[in-house]
Amino acid sequence: MTELSSETRFLHAIEMGLGAWQWGDRIVWQYGHGYGPEEVRQAFQVSANEGIRFVDTAEIYGNGRSERMLGQFLKETDQPILIATKFFPWPWRFTKGALQRALKGSLARIDVESVDLYQIHWPSPIMNTDRLMGALAECVRSGMTRTVGVSNFGQTRMLAAYSSLARHNIPLASNQVHYSLLNRAAEKDGTLARCKELGIRLIAYSPIEKGLLSGKYNVDNPPPGSRSANYSRLLPKLGPLIKLMTEIGQDHGGKSNAQVALNWTICKGALPIPGAKNAEQAQQNAGALGWRMTEAEVARLDESSDSILE
Ligand SMILES: NC(=O)c1ccc[n+]([C@@H]2O[C@H](COP(=O)([O-])OP(=O)(O)OC[C@H]3O[C@@H](n4cnc5c(N)ncnc54)[C@H](OP(=O)(O)O)[C@@H]3O)[C@@H](O)[C@H]2O)c1
Repeated sequence: MTELSSETRFLHAIEMGLGAWQWGDRIVWQYGHGYGPEEVRQAFQVSANEGIRFVDTAEIYGNGRSERMLGQFLKETDQPILIATKFFPWPWRFTKGALQRALKGSLARIDVESVDLYQIHWPSPIMNTDRLMGALAECVRSGMTRTVGVSNFGQTRMLAAYSSLARHNIPLASNQVHYSLLNRAAEKDGTLARCKELGIRLIAYSPIEKGLLSGKYNVDNPPPGSRSANYSRLLPKLGPLIKLMTEIGQDHGGKSNAQVALNWTICKGALPIPGAKNAEQAQQNAGALGWRMTEAEVARLDESSDSILE
């Protein structure tokens, strides 16, 4: 593995973060139905008190609401919280200046002078990787972000981003991708291994597969909203994996399925950022830390997930 650069080393020391897409998002997460600002505040506070000190948000989450809430919560806590946010590459954003302007907007909403990680949310349909990385490099130079990363970049594009940033003498800190027991593309296509080799932190989004791996949803009790249609093919196949996760959790003193799902991503060398709607979920997710599954248990889970995904 390449030696970690001093700028990005902090990301490798973080075992788990907290995802903030749920804060204010009505479309996928039905913010305002069953949970609202107070529940979300408690999720943040419980996480911070449990030692989770890395929050992942984005300018598009809840149309800026997530960033604004984070700003509010930061004022109410004494804990030092590291902040990651993202640039959304709308097709009409095609100049380098668009990134700096978007980041200024994020900083104003969060009400901070700089963030710890600024990520490109998705590859841009308009700006090529070199141009995007050049713009990210300027965000570092102007002091508005400590490090920079990408998200939803496949291996080829990620390597291009890495090389492009290297020409600016800036390390690519992270690649945030979908990674869970029910989506192992990043592991199977070599992205995870390449990240480890190059010192790029792989940040795992949807590590509980949007609630599915908690075991609370099944064919008779599908998840609400758009998740129901998106997961209609997976739901009938989940039983054996959930059963095995429960068994493994029990062998570790009664860990929940969500905790097992998160622990699995940590064992794989990724940094999971589970979303939580309330204090109870946040508390439970924090319990994924402080213990480790055995290699044999990870292998059994791999096998069970393979039989669902093949
Ligand atoms: N870069 C990207 O393109 C991208 C894409 C997606 C997500 N993300 C980031 O990754 C974070 C996490 O991903 P995600 O929110 O999609 O999925 P996730 O973390 O896998 O699932 C979160 C959802 O699962 C349920 N849940 C959480 N903890 C639980 C527990 N202990 N027991 C039972 N249910 C629990 C909650 O929904 P219910 O209670 O409604 O079931 C919660 O909203 C996001 O917040 C965001 O920051 C990034």
